[in-house]
Amino acid sequence: PLPEPYTVPLPIPPVLEPSGTSKGSDRYDITQRQVSAEILPGIRTGLWTYDGTFPGPTIESRRGRPVTVAHRNELPVPTVVHLHGGRTPAASDGYPTDLVLPQSWPAPTAHHDQHDDGAHAMPDPRAVISRITREYTFPMDQRAAMLWYHDHRMDFTAPAIWRGLAGMHIIRDDTEDALDLPRGERELPLMIADRSFASDGSLAYPSLDPALRERPGVRAPYAAGVLGDVILVNGAPWPIHEVVTSRYRLRLLNASNARHYELQAVTDDGRRLDLVQIGADQGLLAAPVTHTTVPIAPAERYDVVVDFAGLPAGSRVRLINRLGTGRTREVMAFRIARRARESTHIPARLADDLPTWRRSEATAVRDFVFRAGQMQHGRGWVIGGRAFDPARTDIRTRLGAVEVWRFVADVHHPVHLHLVGFRVLSRGGRAPLPHDAGLKDTISLRPGESAEIITRFDGYRGRYLFHCHNAEHEDMGMMANIEIT
Ligand code: C2O
Ligand code: CU
Repeated sequence: PLPEPYTVPLPIPPVLEPSGTSKGSDRYDITQRQVSAEILPGIRTGLWTYDGTFPGPTIESRRGRPVTVAHRNELPVPTVVHLHGGRTPAASDGYPTDLVLPQSWPAPTAHHDQHDDGAHAMPDPRAVISRITREYTFPMDQRAAMLWYHDHRMDFTAPAIWRGLAGMHIIRDDTEDALDLPRGERELPLMIADRSFASDGSLAYPSLDPALRERPGVRAPYAAGVLGDVILVNGAPWPIHEVVTSRYRLRLLNASNARHYELQAVTDDGRRLDLVQIGADQGLLAAPVTHTTVPIAPAERYDVVVDFAGLPAGSRVRLINRLGTGRTREVMAFRIARRARESTHIPARLADDLPTWRRSEATAVRDFVFRAGQMQHGRGWVIGGRAFDPARTDIRTRLGAVEVWRFVADVHHPVHLHLVGFRVLSRGGRAPLPHDAGLKDTISLRPGESAEIITRFDGYRGRYLFHCHNAEHEDMGMMANIEIT
């Protein structure tokens, strides 16, 4: 029984209180556990959660103030936590084989049995396995931005996120606070994710192994990515939120496994409201960019301001997805509750700390083709012809090196680099698009498209990942290692 769009109130995930705080840092405790929750009215849905809610609790941090998050795994499967967009030392970056095993899970052995279908978990000599709990430490030495944390277990990331293992993490700093941007109730973190529900209310996911114990992957028709027919925002189906006639800061995250959105804000009488982008994946832009639609690929974040000034009380603004059809065209709505005084301001200059790496500084130019290909157990997705293998180093670079990476895609691939932010240099041989502005950690490569990015591999040494963030592509081989030495 699906609800009528725009009847369910928008939930705002709780902000997690530290369980301990000292002069220089904060500590949080999160228990990963199964709960059943009412997502669709009148029926219960089993979820895997961070601390009992989907989305998980939001963590709010200050730039430069380190955070330790102790995760406790009470789920029936191993988990791995990754802070997406975090400048994180490799030991806390949630490498896919750095498993946190539940109480009753057998310890992995050096030899992995071949399944009868030929699938096997690849041994990783560098994996650091924990039992039940693990502490992740995040220095938070990075720009103010909205990051998100999610599961990253080898071969099983897509079903784990689908079942609810995702939450938001906002970093704030003094320079951003000094701007008069909308805040408090006028700043809304919005996690958009599509899901499908079976008739018993469970989250329908076409896994080969419903227990998600051994055999990874999805049934053949879903290899391109699993799409849902219900659009959730902060875990509620097509929610509605009451607003006043002023500016709101919408911190948009696409936490869908595979669905792309092209968001547009429209009033009941068909007028389009501008979406003024002030930030990208990795924080504020140098200057605002005004859009009428915002394309958002899996894992991307767009920080936009929408102005409800002048709209009549009682009227509605819908946030729609121009790429959807029928109900997947609807996302959420805002109802104008009352008039209010405006106290915010969007400055013409937002930030002056964006890196400006030049091509001439690059010590390497690398090419990567993202396409369908052969992996060990059947068809999958490959980077440069190779499917992911944790035991192989794909790229080696030096700490501090500036590099230009050139990508080519067969179909849509949102490509994400761990550890570093990057700038988009070009797309399809031309100048970047308006929505490529700012510092990114995920670039949406469109079908048949090429693009170039530039970055500096600084921060920490160690083994990091880059991969497609279509979560099914990622689980089916489209990931690679970079070793920073
Ligand atoms: Cu959202 Cu490898 O990450
Ligand atoms: Cu992909």
